[in-house]
Amino acid sequence: MGYIMIKRIHPHHPDIDGNMWEKIDTIIEAGRGEPGALITVLRECQDVVRYLPRELLSYVSSGLNLPVSQVFGVATFYSFFSLTPKGRHTIKACTGTACYVKGIKESLNRIHGKYNLKEGGTTEDRRFSLEGVRCLGACGLAPVMVVDKDVHGAVSSDKVIQILENYK
Ligand code: FES
Repeated sequence: MGYIMIKRIHPHHPDIDGNMWEKIDTIIEAGRGEPGALITVLRECQDVVRYLPRELLSYVSSGLNLPVSQVFGVATFYSFFSLTPKGRHTIKACTGTACYVKGIKESLNRIHGKYNLKEGGTTEDRRFSLEGVRCLGACGLAPVMVVDKDVHGAVSSDKVIQILENYK
């Protein structure tokens, strides 16, 4: 008797196209039956989609044959997982003491005014996500902002928009 190939039905999701689903299936396939694979699977799925929509978590749960509650539990426990859409660029603004004293707040106000973007949020066009972080260990450069992997020091409210406009 031959094998019966079961084609998985992909749920419809506006942020996940056919190509992405194929990659997700490969990731799940590699993790199936591997104890402790859940975190790796979620991380790789997040690399593909850039966040973890709920429909994807349910799909991973059935693919790995794990309870939905366990998959949601892990996805919400670790801060590097995001259940909401992320922007193409991540802004990390340091709100530690040195940066605060040197005026990071004014820059955050400018960002809010220009992009309607607040800490923990993402712009509607998904260009930027903004995170507030505690001391980045570069207090000598305060106020500090990291955009993707670029560290910007001495960020003033006059310069902040000019810096961000380089990230399309
Ligand atoms: S307080 Fe911002 S880098 Fe230290």
